[in-house]
Amino acid sequence: AKHRPLYGRRILITAGPTHEPIDPVRYIANRSSGKQGFAIAEAAAAAGAEVLLIAGPVPLPTPPGVIRVDVETAVEMAEEVRQGLPVDAAIMVAAVADWRAADPAGQKIKKDRSGAVPPLALAENPDILAGVATSAERPTLLIGFAAETNDVIAHAEAKLARKGCDWIVANDVAADPMGGESNRVHIVSKDGIDSWDRLPKAAVARKLMEKIADELDARSPR
Ligand code: C5P
Repeated sequence: AKHRPLYGRRILITAGPTHEPIDPVRYIANRSSGKQGFAIAEAAAAAGAEVLLIAGPVPLPTPPGVIRVDVETAVEMAEEVRQGLPVDAAIMVAAVADWRAADPAGQKIKKDRSGAVPPLALAENPDILAGVATSAERPTLLIGFAAETNDVIAHAEAKLARKGCDWIVANDVAADPMGGESNRVHIVSKDGIDSWDRLPKAAVARKLMEKIADELDARSPR
């Protein structure tokens, strides 16, 4: 049906930041609000898809019809994504922390009265998107996001190749700061660049669902 173009499709979406504990009361995080990922989950469900939303810590309500799994860290997100496969399309919107504390303390780290500052050793997190791209259960359509402050298209083209995904949805976070209500996105694929006007995040999500439905119908007709 035209108004439910994703009917019968399974879609996995990651959204929000991750929190990487330093000790029981402190963590490393980023400014991702989860708004764009949640808007995409809502639009995918409204378009008829069966939606699994794997969300980092954000205080947003679960969109209607969406199955949500909450995680805190990148390692937890990677595990939930692995368990969520296979799907027809995966849209990795989460701003996954690149690094975690290598050895989180089991107890609150106390200030040293001599003024010595504790060291913080970092370890690299798994790249969830790149891992899905090389998995035996790679989705028919695999989409990454890229928030950049400069050279948006060039960075997105490099990321497309590096991550092994089908599309990168790139946005300029200098023009549209993280946490805002709108986005101007460029969809970069091997076929070229599709640049859209600045739109509310819900409108970006709906337009993206139309494009995804068309692409899935072309790649795996029902
Ligand atoms: O190059 P960068 O890591 O910023 O690429 C961002 C894209 O990769 C997003 O789609 C993001 O969800 C995904 N990503 C991921 N796991 C990571 C880092 C990024 O899935 N550890």
